[in-house]
Amino acid sequence: MHIRDTTAGYGLPTRIVHWLMAVAIVGMYVLGLWMVELDYYSPYYRTAPDIHRSVGMLLLFLLVPRFIWRLANVMPSDDELSPIERRAAQIVHWGFYPLLLALMVSGYLMSTADGRPIEVFDWFSVPALVHDKAMEKAAGEVHEVLANITMIVVLLHAAASLKHHFLDRSRILARMWSGPANNQ
Ligand code: HEM
Ligand code: HEM
Repeated sequence: MHIRDTTAGYGLPTRIVHWLMAVAIVGMYVLGLWMVELDYYSPYYRTAPDIHRSVGMLLLFLLVPRFIWRLANVMPSDDELSPIERRAAQIVHWGFYPLLLALMVSGYLMSTADGRPIEVFDWFSVPALVHDKAMEKAAGEVHEVLANITMIVVLLHAAASLKHHFLDRSRILARMWSGPANNQ
């Protein structure tokens, strides 16, 4: 079993965290769009944003070790890509980290602008670091724009990986799903 990433493919921790976060982030987007349309009398009016904020904070805490793990590991080889594809993949792969960080931090700032902490599933609470009511609206607008940009980048990223899999018949999707080939 591969733990570390190698030039031939991704180890188990990278693969588990990649797919776990991918499902959670897309789920968070759908949840976000749905919950802002709820009216006061909906039974989910309070619970849906509570879940959104709690999962969002857990994702933020997972993003940091994920980034450290990425820096501590080699990137699998991108030799089979054309120079343009290689550049685009590097920009998207590295770009995801600051994009997701900014998305999650804007959500945190919007939620704590009134000075109240975030209760993560009644499990622990994350204190408000900046108490500034005026920031709520600005952070909310940034959050919405960044969430939309993230989804566009995710769609491009997923489409590129499917193109490599079905059209180019490369192992790029396989090495993120099942790791390096057995003989490597
Ligand atoms: C994976 C990361 C996240 C994604 C994809 C995401 C996505 C979204 C989306 C699409 C909306 C609806 C925007 C709109 O149409 O107005 C939203 C709203 C919201 N998000 Fe997030 N979000 C994420 C993380 C967070 C985090 C970490 C927090 C706070 C800790 C947070 C707090 C909120 C709040 C409070 C709203 C409601 C804003 C309002 O009432 O207008 N989000 N989010
Ligand atoms: C929110 C959703 C997603 C995010 C944030 C994301 C992020 C990333 C990042 C940062 C990498 C580089 C490796 C790493 O640092 O972990 C990566 C690699 C990869 N992702 Fe995603 N991803 C998402 C969804 C998807 C989806 C839906 C697919 C396919 C349908 C996919 C397929 C791949 C593949 C095949 C690689 C390996 C590329 C290579 O080895 O060159 N990802 N992803």
